[in-house]
Amino acid sequence: MPVFITFEGPEGSGKTTQIRLLAEWLKGQGYPVLTTREPGGTRIGNGIRSLLLDVDHTEMTARTETLLFNAARAQIIHEVIRPALESGQIVLCDRFADSTLAYQGYGYGQDRAELGRLIRYATGGLTPDITLYLDVKPEVGLARKQAGSRQEWNRLDARAMAFHLAVEAGYREMIAAEPGRWRVIASDHAEQVVHLAIVAIVGAEARARLAVA
Ligand code: TYD
Repeated sequence: MPVFITFEGPEGSGKTTQIRLLAEWLKGQGYPVLTTREPGGTRIGNGIRSLLLDVDHTEMTARTETLLFNAARAQIIHEVIRPALESGQIVLCDRFADSTLAYQGYGYGQDRAELGRLIRYATGGLTPDITLYLDVKPEVGLARKQAGSRQEWNRLDARAMAFHLAVEAGYREMIAAEPGRWRVIASDHAEQVVHLAIVAIVGAEARARLAVA
């Protein structure tokens, strides 16, 4: 059975590092793994990503932003995610449709039922098996991100703290509404501690769903 695992959380929650560590661990256990990220992961998606994150694009409306995220999503699902799942790989994706509901929905106050329909159109109904929420307070995450030397401060990070708090509250609501899919990982700990918590969850899922080749 294919396993599609997505990672969500506020800015600077350490998703990228944790996905890398988890992918190395899963490969070490003999599982085939593919890691990817949204927006991006394809030639078209990377073009859309630079449109979205460019700090000069201050005139971009919430609707344009929403459509661009979902255009990139449709492309990565077609080119990367579905083929990998069909070939039996575990797919680890840095952000997915929940980010649209959290940021463009709860963050901007756009209608979530409408967004749900748009997401279904973009994804063709593909949903994650498990979603890991890397739990850090938005103010901690943003401070980490600003301090990081290699990280770029982008247009979406530059939004007001009230926006980031609304996004976080949105995630909490989504987690409460669908507890079977979400796993919350306290992420204000050392990298290795967070990694071990993730391995405990994903290792058990992988053993239950897949035989090691
Ligand atoms: P990125 O630099 O990848 O940030 P992070 O490391 O926090 O994932 O930028 C992605 C930004 O895009 C991030 O601010 C979240 C936002 N985003 C949305 O607003 N909606 C979406 O559907 C997705 C996938 C991302």
